[in-house]
Amino acid sequence: MLRDTPTTIYLKDYRPPEYLIDRVDLTFELGEEETRVRSVLQIRENPAAEVSGVLRLHGEQLELIALSLDGRPLQATEYQVDDEGLTIQQMPAQCILESDVRILPQKNTALEGLYKSGTMFCTQCEAEGFRKITWFLDRPDVMSRFTTTIRADRIRYPVLLSNGNPLNEIQTDDGMHQITWEDPFPKPAYLFALVAGDLRSIEASHTTPSGRDVALKIYVEPENIDKCDHAMASLKHAMAWDERCYGREYDLDIYMVVAVNDFNMGAMENKGLNIFNSKYVLASPETATDRDFQGIESVIAHEYFHNWTGNRITCRDWFQLSLKEGLTVFRDQEFSADMGSRGVKRIEDVRLLRAHQFAEDASPMAHPVRPDSYMEINNFYTVTVYEKGAEVVRMQANLLGSDLYRKGTDLYFERFDGQAVTTDDFVQCMAEVSGRDFSQFKRWYSQAGTPELKISSDFQPEQQRYTLTVAQHCPATPGQPDKAAFLIPFAVGLLDKNGNEMPLQLQGEAEAITGTRMLEVSERRQQFTFIGINERPVPALLRGFSAPVKVQYDYSDEELMFLMAAEPDGFCRWDAAQTLAQRILLKRVATPDAEIPAGFVEAFRKALTDRESDQALLAEVLTLPSESYLGDQMKEVDVEGIHRSRESLKRHLALTLKDELLSLYHDNYSADGYAPDAVSIGRRSLRNLALSYLIQLDDPAVLQLCIDQFRAGQNMTDVLAALSLVADKDVPEAEQLLEQFYQQWKNDPLVMDKWFTLQALANRPDTLSRVENLMKHPAFSLANPNKVRSLIGAFCSGNAVGFHAADGSGYQFLGDRVLELDGMNPQVASRMVRIMARWQRYDKQRQQMMKAQLERILKTEGISRDVFEIASKSLE
Ligand code: ARG
Ligand code: ZN
Repeated sequence: MLRDTPTTIYLKDYRPPEYLIDRVDLTFELGEEETRVRSVLQIRENPAAEVSGVLRLHGEQLELIALSLDGRPLQATEYQVDDEGLTIQQMPAQCILESDVRILPQKNTALEGLYKSGTMFCTQCEAEGFRKITWFLDRPDVMSRFTTTIRADRIRYPVLLSNGNPLNEIQTDDGMHQITWEDPFPKPAYLFALVAGDLRSIEASHTTPSGRDVALKIYVEPENIDKCDHAMASLKHAMAWDERCYGREYDLDIYMVVAVNDFNMGAMENKGLNIFNSKYVLASPETATDRDFQGIESVIAHEYFHNWTGNRITCRDWFQLSLKEGLTVFRDQEFSADMGSRGVKRIEDVRLLRAHQFAEDASPMAHPVRPDSYMEINNFYTVTVYEKGAEVVRMQANLLGSDLYRKGTDLYFERFDGQAVTTDDFVQCMAEVSGRDFSQFKRWYSQAGTPELKISSDFQPEQQRYTLTVAQHCPATPGQPDKAAFLIPFAVGLLDKNGNEMPLQLQGEAEAITGTRMLEVSERRQQFTFIGINERPVPALLRGFSAPVKVQYDYSDEELMFLMAAEPDGFCRWDAAQTLAQRILLKRVATPDAEIPAGFVEAFRKALTDRESDQALLAEVLTLPSESYLGDQMKEVDVEGIHRSRESLKRHLALTLKDELLSLYHDNYSADGYAPDAVSIGRRSLRNLALSYLIQLDDPAVLQLCIDQFRAGQNMTDVLAALSLVADKDVPEAEQLLEQFYQQWKNDPLVMDKWFTLQALANRPDTLSRVENLMKHPAFSLANPNKVRSLIGAFCSGNAVGFHAADGSGYQFLGDRVLELDGMNPQVASRMVRIMARWQRYDKQRQQMMKAQLERILKTEGISRDVFEIASKSLE
């Protein structure tokens, strides 16, 4: 907790470590009151650094029992312990440092370091949690070989796990047992893990191309043993995919995944022993939705992919976080695209990027993919570092093409295996294999903000020329008033009036290509002239979303409808529909009865009755832009106006297209069992989307359809879709169904999360007071991050009308929760306070009220560094 203003850490201050730790021997004695950690460190001077003779080890909340150097107990004058670490004054060039500390995992509510989740012990060490376990050089550029011995009660903790391979188990007379694990790969401390509990596991095996047999194990609490199959299947797919697409195979004899209920984030890639939020492991058709199944597939793959991009090659310092996260997200996105529907996956990723990352870039929390300073590193596990970071890797793949990109990653793995490196090192590999200069490109890592491309076109029929003029601009972000021009891969196509691709030949080129052209925009203003163009084309811009930028081009409504129908690229087709819908929606925020162009409704009808195309893609095309995204497009967010406009357009579409929507609903019914494949997911999405339009009609027959779908109980996707529509309505069935759902699922915490979220998102005047009451519900707990996110987080970030209530009650509620949470779990509190970082986007009254909450939080004594950083930067 804070006493002084937290210090800011700068990338420019990076220095290599003065000491290295080659070996670490840990012995844990896990108890019900306290845990003892004995550590033996083999330390030596770093030949590559200037050495001062003073060793400073990180350590927090450790109670010293004993300390010795080369077998000699240290005198009190030879070392100092403070809140943040241990200092040893006269260090020999190399030595063995032994320590014995007491820690209190049972009291660890921050869920960082060693803590208890239910009856089991587990760890989370990234980014800086290892220092709450023992004294260490807790920085990613110090890589050590770990041996871990765990001693614990045999009955309570029959399963004892750590990184690497198990050596031996010893039973002792006192009812205890102990196991030693050895990890042959040097790793930074943030990849350390330990698990102890009464767990069951499912087992499978995988043989790598080089013939290594790997045992795959997923450990869960006994009641969940039948919910692991999807995670296991996903793991096997991920292993095969990484072998095929990146030539990477797994390197230990055993790969373990453990599911825990209390976890701050999604999952963690600890070497050989991934620890997961149970939300990303457990699934059955009855309890998990299509989204959950997809989430599991991608997070399982993400953590597996980290074994090479993160573990074998790790980050030099935390400013390089995107080196592993951006690259690994790009890898998991491509994996999911290969497993399901590629076009839909891309749209989902862009939707997320635009909704959250673009918003972050436009907020006081904007920061580069490689930040240059931070107070609390946990605050930088952001959509910018992860998702924009993935786009930055994707652009490199776009610029190089798949073969050269693969050569680049091959070189990266070969050159840097076993090292802690930087984003520059990664880009250097891409530069070398392609012979290209990436210096301008690297601005994507150092400059924050979302570039905007203003595009205009000019057709000269006499010369048969068509010119695209592209101007780029990037708005100022904190600390970066002026930006240099970016290198932007800009994929375009030109369509003729029949919707055919026109041959593309730039002035000065010898021949034309057909299809997509990857233009490279590198100047502030640039022209691209195509020759041999004999009619005015409709340009398809930023195909596949080839760069994380905003595009402005003055399409007519007719051109957008044309693209909706004819454009071959799925992303552009979807984007045309979004742009058109956005236009209409925003117009009707200002003028509620502004006309809805008949052509728009017709384009919708055409899409609805098109039985040819991919259902999942259709569902995306027919989904209106979200309220929060619409808000981002306005000068000042009009929460109520946006909500009204969106509801009324949905109602209009439902009224006009009722028959089409009904037959879509019925035609996509399937009596087959549940399967989470792309086709079945597409059908369910489309069907439930139709229902969400139809419910706008306030027609008792539609309500009955929802109730029937709920009662049929075919799978959680359909049950939840139906229930969430009914729960919004002021009808007696709303309460009945919620109660029935509760009774059925009250013992399943992950399903209870859905039940909380549903009520937090309900569009009703009394939602806030319901949320407050639900906080007292026995199934709720402020100590469990999933619960906090599904009730408090869902209300504050997913229910705009409720949260931004004009009386400020939503803001007061969030302010109270942040302060309440901060004492327990700063990481979770800090995620919550972030919701108010965008206060400037609202009207004066709301601004004042949000600011007042941020100021109240900042003035509170003892707030965490995490919350301080977000609240103070939000007010700057
Ligand atoms: N490396 C993990 C992942 O992306 C995230 C863990 C971050 N945890 C944290 N408390 N900062 O897979
Ligand atoms: Zn990751």
